[in-house]
Amino acid sequence: MKTVVDSRLFRRGGALRYLKDEDRFLSAREEPEFSYGVIGCGIMGQEHIHNTLLLGKARVAGVYDPAPESVRHAMRVFERRGDEAPTVYASLAEACNDPATDALIVATPNYTHLDVLREVVGSGKAIFLEKPIATTVADAYEVCRLANAHEHVVRFGLQYRYKAIYAEAIDEVFRRGSIGQVHNLTMAEHRFPFLDKVGQWNKFNAKTGGALVEKCCHYFDLMNLFSGGQPKRVFALGNQAVNFTNFSYGNQRADGLDHANVTIEYTTGVIGGFSLCMFAPGTREELTICGDAGRLHVSEQAMVGEENVNHVEVWSGENGTSRTSAPTYPSYIASAGHHGSTFFEHVDLAGDLAAGQNSGPGPAAGFWSVVAGAAAQASIERGEAVDVAEILPDDFDPVQLVEPGIAAAGDLG
Ligand SMILES: NC(=O)c1ccc[n+]([C@@H]2O[C@H](COP(=O)([O-])OP(=O)(O)OC[C@H]3O[C@@H](n4cnc5c(N)ncnc54)[C@H](O)[C@@H]3O)[C@@H](O)[C@H]2O)c1
Repeated sequence: MKTVVDSRLFRRGGALRYLKDEDRFLSAREEPEFSYGVIGCGIMGQEHIHNTLLLGKARVAGVYDPAPESVRHAMRVFERRGDEAPTVYASLAEACNDPATDALIVATPNYTHLDVLREVVGSGKAIFLEKPIATTVADAYEVCRLANAHEHVVRFGLQYRYKAIYAEAIDEVFRRGSIGQVHNLTMAEHRFPFLDKVGQWNKFNAKTGGALVEKCCHYFDLMNLFSGGQPKRVFALGNQAVNFTNFSYGNQRADGLDHANVTIEYTTGVIGGFSLCMFAPGTREELTICGDAGRLHVSEQAMVGEENVNHVEVWSGENGTSRTSAPTYPSYIASAGHHGSTFFEHVDLAGDLAAGQNSGPGPAAGFWSVVAGAAAQASIERGEAVDVAEILPDDFDPVQLVEPGIAAAGDLG
């Protein structure tokens, strides 16, 4: 737990930039303990750079991206903060071989994750790999095997667990036991269409794994977590109704679905429902969890151009206090990306490097979040429910899916 005097608010400099180092106490910058290389400098790579520098536990010593525009924009993040410019590596091999870094952050498109991971495991460095860990169940399993065999920390980018509303939900369900035994989950993501990407990779199922894998792995990860088990049977309906119906790139038509409803039966008997709509004029996420002792509802919403609003509601009946709250993070953290969740993911990444062990999300979270999405995509294609056991690799062994426990919002180190 950090004291208020030790707040990053004072360290940001701003109006205090005129001070000499010897005159700084509250605004003194922490000496970074670690050093990262960032592989892939698109929108998410830049968010990782920004959060690394904001947190101050690590510096970014080098970046690699074959797209010069992405590198140019990443450099601006350093300039804006007055931080030292990193080395620009000419190749992934150069990034892997740089003795100046302790960890590599991989934020390349989904379809590249397995190949990039195969190369970066040879670096002997800790690894952070963005979600979804791969585009298919077979590749996700291979990613887990590589992660399991790697002798250094490997974390996956399922940072929605750290969003204020879900961090509170984790506390209510697992730490406070506010709603008793969980039986039913309903999750919704209603949002605007996928944004433009380098090479528009996110418009094509072959490159994303399908919308239910690409974006929705975050929500399936949360549903899996609250179910206390793994998806067993999945039924889904979905199609491409509105978005990118007239969009082609390189003579290929966009084929990602833009709305879907998914029902999941879990190994614990929990029943989960998920609603996706990607043609909404804003973003609205909600999760309702019903247990045998109460009901929890959390939501996060912003119409396009409006402020985000968080809401948590606990109904306890005669079991205790019912309450509502509006959990937030400081604005400079919330605005650092994904409503502050990326910042807290970085708190735990640095904490894991200090401890030399992964606190999660790890292989089980990464794998089952892809499996739920892939099963839903398969169900839509087949028009019938899918038994998850059917889509697991022939050599599937749960031993490869060691999970380090619940990662919720950490303290500020
Ligand atoms: N955790 C989250 O909330 C979140 C949010 C957005 C994106 N993502 C994930 O982050 C990853 C990157 O997405 P993005 O939105 O930044 O995409 P993007 O298109 O904005 O950026 C991807 C970058 O990777 C580069 N690249 C492609 N192949 C590469 C390779 N082999 N080596 C190095 N760089 C390579 C591209 O040139 C591009 O600059 C994806 O896996 C995506 O799903 C996660």
